[in-house]
Amino acid sequence: MTADAPLLVAEDLTAGYGRMDILHRVSLTVHEGEIVSVIGPNGAGKSTAFKTIVGFLAPRTGRVVFNGDVITGLRPDLVLRRGLAYVPQGRIVFPQMTVLENLEMGAYIERDGGRIAAALERVFALFPVLGERRRQKAGTMSGGEQQMVAIGRALMTAPRLIMLDEPSLGLSPKFVTQIFDKLVEMKAAGFTLMLVEQNAARALAIADRGYVLELGRNRFEGPGRTLLDDPEVKRLYLGG
Ligand SMILES: Nc1ncnc2c1ncn2[C@@H]1O[C@H](COP(=O)(O)OP(=O)(O)O)[C@@H](O)[C@H]1O
Ligand SMILES: [Mg+2]
Repeated sequence: MTADAPLLVAEDLTAGYGRMDILHRVSLTVHEGEIVSVIGPNGAGKSTAFKTIVGFLAPRTGRVVFNGDVITGLRPDLVLRRGLAYVPQGRIVFPQMTVLENLEMGAYIERDGGRIAAALERVFALFPVLGERRRQKAGTMSGGEQQMVAIGRALMTAPRLIMLDEPSLGLSPKFVTQIFDKLVEMKAAGFTLMLVEQNAARALAIADRGYVLELGRNRFEGPGRTLLDDPEVKRLYLGG
């Protein structure tokens, strides 16, 4: 892999459920160190695109290249081993397990205790509240804190790229702000992020680059700021 090669190239992905195609030759690229935001109306295929990239759906056309290797159709656990972590929509935590146990679950592919301990320290540095509440059952935490558990779990394997599907969905305004602040902090700490967001304006505001999907197709792409200022993007997707 050359120095300026993208970390992730998903190109020409056609995928769907059963016989129905939802994505039509969708392409998304992420470079190391970037935040890339994917926006678009409900049902545009954003979650489907993420699921296809991380191996939950096999594409009918196209390919996924991660870190220089073709990973198209690879099983999700093997994709994770390559360094691509995925935080699904809905801040899924194990409610009866403690914060610490939830985080340890994220390291299930890791056997080296020292590396797990180091990963935990990194997560607690980024999310101090998780360190303070490590013995608390995850199900008793607030929505925003549960989202931090879900993100922290994805960080336990020291991934090269973290894909987050709707990290702010359903959170109260205070926690929405907190999650977006955390994403910016994660970038500053050296993580590379790609996210899907219905909170389009905020997602573009923190993004190096953004994509707009519509009806399963690429509709617009460009620097976050450019998309944010684009009159058509504004009118169609940012509520004027
Ligand atoms: N598991 C599924 N089975 C069948 N159709 C699905 C499934 N998940 C999503 N869809 C359909 O795929 C389309 C795109 O959904 P999705 O990728 O979730 O969109 P977005 O994340 O942009 O809101 C929608 O029409 C949705 O109804
Ligand atoms: Mg979705």
